[in-house]
Amino acid sequence: MPAVPPYQDPALPVEQRVDDLLARMTLPEKVGQMLQLDARNDIKEIVSEKLAGSILHTSPAKMLEAIDLAARTRLRIPLLTADDCIHGHSFWPGATIFPTQLAMAATWDPALVERVARVTAVEVAATGIHQTFSPVLCIARDLRWGRVDETFGEDPFLIGELGSAMIRGYQGGGLSDPTAILATAKHFAGYSETQGGRDASEADISPRKLRSWFLPPFERVAREGCRVFMLGYQSMDGVPITANRWLLNDVLKEEWGFSGTLVTDWDNVGRMVWEQRVCADYAEAAAVAVRAGNDLIMVTPGFFEGAQEAVARGLLAEAEIDAAVRRILRLKFEMGLFENPRAPDPERQREVISIPAHADLNLEVARRSLVLLRNDGLLPIDTDKFRRIAIIGPNADDPQSQLGDWAGNSGQVAWMPDGHPRELIETILDGFNTISPKNWDITYARGADIERLVPDPSGATYPDGQPRPPISQPAPVDGHLISVARDAAIRADYAVVVVGDTVNLTGEHKATATLELQGGQIALLDAVAATKTPMIVVLLNSKPCVLPPSALTAAAIIQAFNPGMRGGRAVAELILGLIEPSGRMPLSVPRHVGQQPVYYNQIRGQHGSRYADLTQEPLFVFGEGLSYTSVVFSSLSVSSREIGQDGKIQASVTLTNTGARPSLETIQVYVSDLVTSVTWAVRELKAYRQVTVPPGEPVTVEIELPASDCTLVTADGRRVVEPGDFELLVGPSSRESDLLRAPFRIT
Ligand code: NOJ
Repeated sequence: MPAVPPYQDPALPVEQRVDDLLARMTLPEKVGQMLQLDARNDIKEIVSEKLAGSILHTSPAKMLEAIDLAARTRLRIPLLTADDCIHGHSFWPGATIFPTQLAMAATWDPALVERVARVTAVEVAATGIHQTFSPVLCIARDLRWGRVDETFGEDPFLIGELGSAMIRGYQGGGLSDPTAILATAKHFAGYSETQGGRDASEADISPRKLRSWFLPPFERVAREGCRVFMLGYQSMDGVPITANRWLLNDVLKEEWGFSGTLVTDWDNVGRMVWEQRVCADYAEAAAVAVRAGNDLIMVTPGFFEGAQEAVARGLLAEAEIDAAVRRILRLKFEMGLFENPRAPDPERQREVISIPAHADLNLEVARRSLVLLRNDGLLPIDTDKFRRIAIIGPNADDPQSQLGDWAGNSGQVAWMPDGHPRELIETILDGFNTISPKNWDITYARGADIERLVPDPSGATYPDGQPRPPISQPAPVDGHLISVARDAAIRADYAVVVVGDTVNLTGEHKATATLELQGGQIALLDAVAATKTPMIVVLLNSKPCVLPPSALTAAAIIQAFNPGMRGGRAVAELILGLIEPSGRMPLSVPRHVGQQPVYYNQIRGQHGSRYADLTQEPLFVFGEGLSYTSVVFSSLSVSSREIGQDGKIQASVTLTNTGARPSLETIQVYVSDLVTSVTWAVRELKAYRQVTVPPGEPVTVEIELPASDCTLVTADGRRVVEPGDFELLVGPSSRESDLLRAPFRIT
């Protein structure tokens, strides 16, 4: 029997196995290991000819074939398989699809988000996928951008809290845990700082701005052991991220000690040739990408020839490729893939996918994600009396809009043309039909269409092979649909009007020029409001929209974002008072698209506080959200006003529930540095706590904040604490008038 080569011996140390394997590999095999290719294409060509070490978007039907093809390559190096399982196992028919990341952010609850990620990992791992391209740690600032739904909102601290929780959930017990998947923090860094909201445009960010707001969530997860970072599409100051040696090496690897794996975004290396035009050919681009420290090269098939040519032309030394291949092989050895390729396991899938415990968690997170923004006292509707309820609107019974992007038939893959099984999704109409008292009269009227889809004349795909979405044109106002809805509202005691957007108005390549409700929706709201039947507006949208005056006359407004498979039931429960509203806005909402950006942590210093034609005040602010009671914050006190730089600010605040129902409050702790050597944010979230406040029983909450968190970034890019006077601001939202203040001094 031929002896087992050392690299296949699990008893040997990983470094020895890596050395042995690397020494056996040819240049094409090494370059192939760096490829992460699109498995929607010919799988044989990818795995057997380009020798790809990693694949993504592999259909359930192709996964075994891919693993088998890898096992039949000369050195039998196992594949690393990846996909965008970003709010559940997006493209596995019938997997649990949770609320989107933005909706999850409205829970402000890291423990809950960690549980969601754990469940996602358990479902995903059973299907043969090892890596998820999640979480997104980008900061949402221009809401026209199409990927706001994928973010945790606008605040770096909240993003860091929730992002690291999600990573802990995915990564479970570590690389050897068979229920764990690799988390990927993305898109490193500054990708969301678009121009005009347009996707992947050059990001206008100084190193100081980057360090102030965009890097902190990434730094946090790098230090906490996130295994993979994905690089954004954009360039900054003329340098594509894929080529940014300062960011990848000086900052990420050296300063933060990141020793994980880097993956480019989709065809970043090719884009340097055909889009950004900073490299003349694929050989040059390959050399630039390898030199900058990239490991996995996502969907640039031309890297295979390009990198080999770069070595032949002397643009790149083979040893530089070895360094990247080493990191990839080390990861595969540490995951034990050579011994167990973690193939799909049908029995395990039956045991874990979409089981009732996961559906229960999905309902729990959907409930917690709902934000009650307005309530004139109408809600909750009491269930003691007979009621007629009209459920109206294009998103009241639309499973796909409810799940949002990256779910089934949202456009990225072709194997789920009908989306996730309808019976697993509870729309808002379903929710009312299921939980309202049996004798209630529930009627439904669509009322309006949102869009008409027309093919993009530029073709069905982009130059990089990604599908080009159809163009979403606003649907015309349909008088018949509106009159049916108006009649339903007139006959009802309450009209629940569910408006929002669709998956064609959200996602990559789908920035919107406006934030207005599209198609017949504004006319529908106007018509229902005119009936004077009390109106409850539910916003079921990927990202905030600006509201027409008729919506602002509603008795109640609920922000639901994309609340996942069970979100419709959660909304019905909220309206009927079976649960308490507890979500808080993870971002601020403008009154008009032109007010942007309206994030709360703006830099001080500008003329005046309004436009000539409009206030600058957002409509809803970061941290805002109501409950079904009122809670008064009082008695903020700081135990010591003078704190050393390594001391802690200790404070307490009292919450009194003056109503009749309990409230889960999110106590938000902001800091304002009163005089700074450079201009700085008016205030920043530094901590928060969630506490249930029962009626009539005041609750005193202790707050502790290290003085070392009260930092700013200096003009030369250093994060420091500047001793001096500060204010601690505590309250239920970021709105100035909601916050109690207590001065303190760092000495
Ligand atoms: C491009 C997107 O920008 C990224 O977020 C995603 O993970 C990859 N495509 C893979 O689908």
